[in-house]
Amino acid sequence: MKAYSQGVAIIGSGAAVPSQTLTNEELSKIVDTSDDWITSRTGIQTRNLANETESLSQIAAQAAEQALTMAGITAAEVDLIILATSTPDDLFGSACQIQNLIGAKKAVAFDVTAACSGFIFGLITASQFIRTGVYQNILVIGGDILSRWVDWGDRTTCILFGDGAGAVVLQAQTDRDNLLGFEMCSDGTQNGCLNLGFDGKNQYLNSELAVTKGSYQPITMNGKEVYRFAVAKVPEIIEKALYRANLSTDDIDWLLLHQANQRILDAVAKRLKIPPEKVLANLNKYGNTSAASIPIALDEAVREGKIKAGDIIAASGFGAGLTWGAAVFRWK
Ligand code: UT7
Repeated sequence: MKAYSQGVAIIGSGAAVPSQTLTNEELSKIVDTSDDWITSRTGIQTRNLANETESLSQIAAQAAEQALTMAGITAAEVDLIILATSTPDDLFGSACQIQNLIGAKKAVAFDVTAACSGFIFGLITASQFIRTGVYQNILVIGGDILSRWVDWGDRTTCILFGDGAGAVVLQAQTDRDNLLGFEMCSDGTQNGCLNLGFDGKNQYLNSELAVTKGSYQPITMNGKEVYRFAVAKVPEIIEKALYRANLSTDDIDWLLLHQANQRILDAVAKRLKIPPEKVLANLNKYGNTSAASIPIALDEAVREGKIKAGDIIAASGFGAGLTWGAAVFRWK
């Protein structure tokens, strides 16, 4: 193992969503809601949902292949795959299925679970392997199919989520480090605000010995609490990451937040005094795609030509755990 330190560059991105779409209008025929309520309270207009023919591994592999193409490297060159997800196809993890699908034969692959902060946590984890000189090329994927775990009779949650995956390629650099600053936080005392918990009952193996059998229960969320938490903590953690980067909010070209709610995006930008034209938002099209939302929005902005090489991006994810994190990086 090499012992020197290297810098990080993010050199490619990709995104994929399942093919079915569900508009607010269609949702209002499933639960007691309206396009007007969803649009005004969240900014979401439509979302993509996976049916039984689509798996998380498949959409994640599509996103990964696009990211590799943009980065100009082959799957065979990837050393590590980190999949940030809370909804793997297999509870043992889905990163290895992705490794197989894209043919990244030499890569080691594992999952990271940190809900909507997962992509940022995965990105920061990956960068440590590069900085320590262990790996050269790393795929970080954020992907979720939360529609599998939503209670489609609960209008307070089912209107929010969509399915998708986004990916980036990180590459070791000898002459620069484009991950300029980061910060991560957790607060387990607020764990009960947002859950997708296991619920089981005793199954007796004999008269004394029991094991628990059951299944994961649909998402429950205290929306107001999570909203308050996000608006308070996200500006704070971005400022900390900027401080570590020796930068100020004026230096940011793009604010890239987890796409949970347009009102959260607006409130965070206002607190940081970042003008609306620097805020990346696409949640109107995809809803809250959990670990996928940041890389999907990043990829879209890159492909639209908004984000250019050298631009400084302040990204922040927040969600269940509760967890929150920020990464300030220079694109390419
Ligand atoms: O990715 C993880 C992070 N998650 C988040 O960031 C979510 C953060 N929270 C939020 O985005 C917002 O709290 C929500 C969008 C979930 C809810 O918005 P809100 O403005 O906090 O609404 P509320 O929960 O205070 O509900 C207001 C009213 C209630 O009726 P009453 O009690 O005032 O009569 C709700 O019953 O709106 C009602 N309501 C709805 N009405 C129509 C709740 N959901 C709906 C709905 N359609 N889908």
